[in-house]
Amino acid sequence: MNITFLLNGETVSTQAAPATATLLDWLRESRHLTGTKEGCNEGDCGACTVMVTDDQGTRALNACILLLPQLHGKALRTVEGLAENGVLHPVQKEMVDHHASQCGFCTPGFVIAMVTSHANGSTDHATALAGNLCRCTGYAPILRAAKAAEGQPIPGWLTIDRDYARTNSGATPSATVPEGQRPDASAEAAAALPGSSDALAALLLEQPDTTIIAGATDVGLWVTKKLRDLPRVAFLHRCRDLQQIEVSEESIRIGAAVTMDRVLTLMQKHHPSYASMIRRYGSAQVRAAATIGGNIANGSPIGDNPPALIALGATLHLRSGDVRRGMPIEAFFIDYGKQDRGPSEFVEAVTIPRQPDRLKCYKLSKRFDQDISAVCGCFNLTTKDSKIVEARIAFGGMAGTPKRATTLEQALIGQRWARETAEQAMSALDEDFAPLTDMRASATYRLDAARNMLLRYFLEDEAGLPAISEVRV
Ligand SMILES: Cc1cc2nc3c(=O)[nH]c(=O)nc-3n(C[C@H](O)[C@H](O)[C@H](O)COP(=O)(O)OP(=O)(O)OC[C@H]3O[C@@H](n4cnc5c(N)ncnc54)[C@H](O)[C@@H]3O)c2cc1C
Ligand code: FES
Ligand code: FES
Repeated sequence: MNITFLLNGETVSTQAAPATATLLDWLRESRHLTGTKEGCNEGDCGACTVMVTDDQGTRALNACILLLPQLHGKALRTVEGLAENGVLHPVQKEMVDHHASQCGFCTPGFVIAMVTSHANGSTDHATALAGNLCRCTGYAPILRAAKAAEGQPIPGWLTIDRDYARTNSGATPSATVPEGQRPDASAEAAAALPGSSDALAALLLEQPDTTIIAGATDVGLWVTKKLRDLPRVAFLHRCRDLQQIEVSEESIRIGAAVTMDRVLTLMQKHHPSYASMIRRYGSAQVRAAATIGGNIANGSPIGDNPPALIALGATLHLRSGDVRRGMPIEAFFIDYGKQDRGPSEFVEAVTIPRQPDRLKCYKLSKRFDQDISAVCGCFNLTTKDSKIVEARIAFGGMAGTPKRATTLEQALIGQRWARETAEQAMSALDEDFAPLTDMRASATYRLDAARNMLLRYFLEDEAGLPAISEVRV
C-alpha cells in the first residue's frame, strides 16, 4: 500500500510496510527528521508530538503511537517545518525570549503542541500542554511563552496544509507501490483502509482475524511495547459514516470512530460533568486520536466512557455483515477481557437517550491530567417529589469490567433523596463490588472512595454545585 501525505509542505509517498510502522520511527529513521523525539514511546510524555491537519481540523498527535497509514491524505508538520523563510514561528521566538527550554529534549514536543493550539486560537494553555512532560519542571516560562504568542500572526503554511487536507483527506490510497519500494507480498496484503462501514463489514466477514485499528492509542502500544505482530489490520479513519454524531429529540447517536475530543465538545452541551471527566482523559494528543468505539471495544475495566454511558442508559450498536444488533451497553462487558462481540462484528455506534441532565462523573486518579482512573463513578438519579424514582449508577476500576451498582441502585429507589439515605445506602456497594488491590489503589481505598462518591453526589446536588471533578486541584 502506498501512503501519500504532505510533510512540511512537501508531498511524500511511502510504502507502509509493515502496516504498523510508527510515524515516529519513519520520521527519525527514514527521513532523519530527528527533532521529533522518542521519550516514553507509549503516548505519555509528548516528546514526539507532531501537528496533523485533516478535513476535520488541526490537531497535535503523538507520533510514537501514530501508525503511518493513519496519515494518508493528511498534512503533517514537524518541528523542522515551522520556521518560514528563515523566520521563527511566533511560538518558537517566544520560547527563546522566555528562556523556556532547559534540557531541550522535550522542547520540540512542547513547541508543536503550542503551535497547534496557536493555530486553533486556543488560550487554554494548561489543557493544551497537559500531555507534554518537562522533567526539569520548567513549566512556568513555557506557559509564559504560550501566553506571549497569543494572537501573533499564523504563518502562511497553515493555509497550504489546510488546503491539502481538504482536497486529499478522503483519498483512496494507491495500491501501486513505486518500483524498488515494494514490500513483500504478505506485508502489502495485510493492511486495509476501508472507505465506509459497508466496506469494513464486508472485509471482516471475509477475514474475521483482522485487527481493527481506530485511534491506535491502545493498538499502538501493542506494537511499541508488546512488540506484537499484527498480521492483518483494518484502519477505520476513512470510514466517514462511523465518524458521524446525530442529535435528535430522542437520542444522541455517536459513531464508533468519533474521537474523544469531539465527544468532549458534544458533552459540554448535553452532560457537562461527562465533558469535565473527558477533559481529564489522557491528554489533548490522546483525545485527538482515541475513539469512543475503541474505548468501549477494548473492554478495559478502567476505560472512562463505559461507566458514564451505562449511567446514561446507552445502547451499543454492533454490526456483522448486514446484520445489526443493539444491547444495553452494560451487557457488552461479560467478564475481564471478554466482550459480547463475534469474530466479524464491530462496534458501529452508541446511542444515548435524551434526558434531563442529572449525570455526575467522578474520575479518581493519582494525577489530575494524563492518568488512568483508579475509580470512576458515574451517578444518574431521577427524583420526583423528593423521592428517588430511578437510579443508574456505574463504576470503572471496581471489578473486572465496567459495572452497574445494582444493589446500591435498589437500596436508593423509593427512598427520600437525603443525606441519611446516601449514608445508609453506601454500604450496599460492598455487595456490588469486591475490588482488587493494585498499583493504582488498594481494595479498601477503592470501596471507601466509591462510597463517598455517592455522598459527594448528594452534597453537590443539594448545593447545586458542579461536579468536583470540574475543579482543578
Ligand atoms: C497516554 C494514554 C492515556 C490514556 N488515558 C486514558 C484515560 O484517561 N481514560 C481512558 O479511558 N483511556 C485512556 N487511554 C486508553 C485509550 O485511549 C483508550 O482505550 C482508547 O479510547 C482506545 O481507542 P482507540 O480508538 O485508540 O482504539 P484502538 O487502539 O485503535 O483500538 C483499541 C481496541 O478496540 C478495537 N476496536 C477499535 N475500534 C473498534 C470498533 N469500532 N469495533 C470493534 N473493535 C474496535 C481494536 O481492535 C482494539 O482491540 C489512554 C491511552 C494512552 C496511550
Ligand atoms: S514518545 Fe512519549 S508520547 Fe511519544
Ligand atoms: S526542558 Fe526538557 S525536561 Fe524540561
